Amino acid sequence: MQSPLREGALVLGIESSCDETGVALVRLPAASGDAQRPAVPQLLAHALHSQIDMHRAYGGVVPELASRDHIRRVLPLAQQVLAEAGHDLAALDVIAYTKGPGLAGALLVGAGVACALGAALDKPVLGVHHLEGHLLSPFLSADAPQFPFVALLVSGGHTQLMRVDGVGRYELLGETIDDAAGEAFDKSAKLLGLPYPGGPELARLAEGGDAQAYALPRPLLRAGNLDFSFAGLKTAVFTQVQKLGAALDAPDSRQRRDLAASTQEAIVEVLVRKTLLALEQTGLKRLVVAGGVGANRRLRQTLDAACARRGLRVHYPELHLCTDNGAMIALAAAMRLQARLQQPTRQWSFDVLPRWPLEAIAAPE
Ligand code: KG4
Ligand code: ZN
Repeated sequence: MQSPLREGALVLGIESSCDETGVALVRLPAASGDAQRPAVPQLLAHALHSQIDMHRAYGGVVPELASRDHIRRVLPLAQQVLAEAGHDLAALDVIAYTKGPGLAGALLVGAGVACALGAALDKPVLGVHHLEGHLLSPFLSADAPQFPFVALLVSGGHTQLMRVDGVGRYELLGETIDDAAGEAFDKSAKLLGLPYPGGPELARLAEGGDAQAYALPRPLLRAGNLDFSFAGLKTAVFTQVQKLGAALDAPDSRQRRDLAASTQEAIVEVLVRKTLLALEQTGLKRLVVAGGVGANRRLRQTLDAACARRGLRVHYPELHLCTDNGAMIALAAAMRLQARLQQPTRQWSFDVLPRWPLEAIAAPE
């Protein structure tokens, strides 16, 4: 049996924490010898099945349906990835899976399949933190970052600013005290009668709308700290929706577009302002934006412009790797192995951690 750390070792990654089943295969590169610029694992193939169409009828993710669909999808996706990469199961060195955070039943599918494969093939397994996957996903882009950097993690369940000094070296700078930015997008979209998932739908409706039309709150904007609060925004959007009444009925009415644009602007302005403050306070010159909301065009435009003015570099994951996928899980596993932060295990009994703060996996200095 080869060491899972050797150059060329193959790591399969399985993501099943929410409403996307993702599987990917990466190959470990030769070590770069430079912890600031780690050699990036090579993505050989990845495949994704989104459950959006299935959950849309219910207006949000139905956990039981999510788990059942992961069960149906995960093995065919794994076969597809291996076939595309020209490898078979026997060639794998490590099988990685998302251990948390996420929906318990959904996580159990990926963990169960990974550990069953590991036991059947006598391969070691490794549980990965979903947010570490998001955080490291820009390393798969053509413009890979180098450490250290500030990370803005904006997903459906999390809004955090982190200082990142290396793989596993994460310091929480600030986070939301209530709703996540993705949740603010999704809940406001629902109030506007848009289908799930609301974020991209609201962004689409906002195009051509007047972002200044409605004055919506920017909580904690001037608090001087790096925390966020988005719960008040959805209440303000609700009040505005009540006021506008029938004016919002036509799907493409000016008022709908204006309210969507004003909501997006309120979220983006707070995210950008706090991110710039984090860069200022840490003195770091590099920013990484990751998680589903990182796909938002207005957020990218505003951050790009603000960072260009200040001589700061911004890195994003490729657009298709912003939302959940298997590539980021295989990547995070491979980078942790390379950094010798974690050993894969042949103990194939498993558990999942539906609630799991990212700081919990930060390596001691
Ligand atoms: O990272 P992600 O795929 O899943 C979690 O780990 O939560 O993020 C999903 C979130 C959802 O709230 C979705 O509405 C939001 O990302 N999102 C967007 C956009 N694309 C996805 N929000 C605003 N604009 C977008 N273009
Ligand atoms: Zn995610």
